[in-house]
Amino acid sequence: MDFQLKTLDAAGAAREKCDALVLIVPEGYKPGKDALSQLAANAVEAGDLEPKPGKILQAYKPAGVAAGRVILAGAGAGGAKQVNAAINAALMPLRGARSIKSLVIVLPKGAGDDQLRAAVCAASAATYVYVTTKSKPEPRTIDHVTLCVADAKPLQEAFRVAKAIASGIEFAKELGNLPANHATPTHLGEEAKKLAKHYSLDCEVLGPKEIAKLGMGSFMAVAQGSEEPARFIVLEYKGARASEPPVVLVGKGITFDTGGISIKPAAEMDEMKYDMGGAASVLGAFRAIGEAKPRLNVIGLVPTCENMPDGRAVKPGDIVKTMNGQTVEILNTEAEGRLILCDALAYAERYNPGCVVDIATLTGACVVALGNVRSGLFATDDALARQLLAAGERALDVAWRMPLDDEYAEGLKTNFADVANVTGGRAGGAITAAKFLQRFTSKYPWAHLDVAGTAWRGGPQKGSTGRPVGLLMQFLLAKQGTAAKKSAAKKSATTKSAAKKSRAAR
Ligand code: BES
Ligand code: MN
Ligand code: ZN
Repeated sequence: MDFQLKTLDAAGAAREKCDALVLIVPEGYKPGKDALSQLAANAVEAGDLEPKPGKILQAYKPAGVAAGRVILAGAGAGGAKQVNAAINAALMPLRGARSIKSLVIVLPKGAGDDQLRAAVCAASAATYVYVTTKSKPEPRTIDHVTLCVADAKPLQEAFRVAKAIASGIEFAKELGNLPANHATPTHLGEEAKKLAKHYSLDCEVLGPKEIAKLGMGSFMAVAQGSEEPARFIVLEYKGARASEPPVVLVGKGITFDTGGISIKPAAEMDEMKYDMGGAASVLGAFRAIGEAKPRLNVIGLVPTCENMPDGRAVKPGDIVKTMNGQTVEILNTEAEGRLILCDALAYAERYNPGCVVDIATLTGACVVALGNVRSGLFATDDALARQLLAAGERALDVAWRMPLDDEYAEGLKTNFADVANVTGGRAGGAITAAKFLQRFTSKYPWAHLDVAGTAWRGGPQKGSTGRPVGLLMQFLLAKQGTAAKKSAAKKSATTKSAAKKSRAAR
């Protein structure tokens, strides 16, 4: 997908040769004297175009416009959320229109960083097509998008970053959509290595022997029922001084979840190919990081394996030892995500992280609680929770904070090990899962995103969403801002104190 950013008003955009032009029309739209904005103003005045997000009106070869077709798209208040909705609606009728290859989108006058990012991500998402396992692939037709703004200059950096984020989201989506016989743990490892090579990241992919050697008995227990060998992926991006504590992202990489011996019902079991959505979001974030190159250190950890029933599979009641020495009674092999994550969370300690964020399609209970709109957020650190929530709002990839009261962990007690992997009942299932993970995170500020409801969509639009790559990237970019401010403050403080000292010496 090729994006361009240009300084063009409606009159200029109307002269651009393209197959389709989308004019975003906010409330109180102020037209110029040109044919295109007059068309929009007339449509609004006639009442045929309500300037609300989701409302569109199409015109074919209108006089004074070079584009073959014009789509006027209402955008209400004209914020990022409305721009996103406007572009979604505008591009809907173009799905499957194979003659449309190039697109011009005219953003509203005051459009800033957030609207631009929303536009890039929406255009990228709306034109994505999954083709990898089709015998006669029809790849995306719209492959050229020009975004027109009042002044491109101050938006250049936001544009660069927006393209990186869109590409990371798309990568996560593609990995999520791949079936489990393609997206194996080995495949994820190879994709990580490819990323590392392409963007000069450090990457290590460990196999079963090395995982066992690390003492990750809980992760190994999940993996042992499958013919596919497990992988533990470590990605390292160094964008700041080595002394700067890294952000560690940990992604659940169950490439297929049958439930194991505590097997799942057959209906919709195919959807468990998305159970590596957390892993996909970490790899997607690393692609975006590789492109955007933020001034931060980021580590990505992905434990990945299948959860299968087999002669060697772990059985309910089996007790295993995790990397940090805790013993776990596996009462339900269906609660496998926490079993692979706990070892990765223990491993994360070695980085002395500034914070650790894990991302997992962890519980059906989270889908019941929050549906497919907001991801569940759990955090031991209020500042971290605030930052992640704010990032979600800005990136239109929203989350909702859930509690971590110790009382929720009561049910995890067992007579036979330090902790059980499930409670007796179903109540508060997303929270009890988080409480299990929390036991492995005492050494650093920690947050957990349960994306079981948001990483993929069911129904006719079935597929991976690429969430929460947008949230993660917004979080990292904002962190980069505060890290820069902090080091600037430190610098000015040290120069001030040096000045003071030299004054005192005089
Ligand atoms: N991968 C599932 C969670 C899931 C469910 C993701 C639906 C997406 C959609 C997870 O491994 C699981 O099976 N969790 C169990 C836990 C239970 C046994 C405590 C669940 O949610 O039922
Ligand atoms: Mn499961
Ligand atoms: Zn699972």
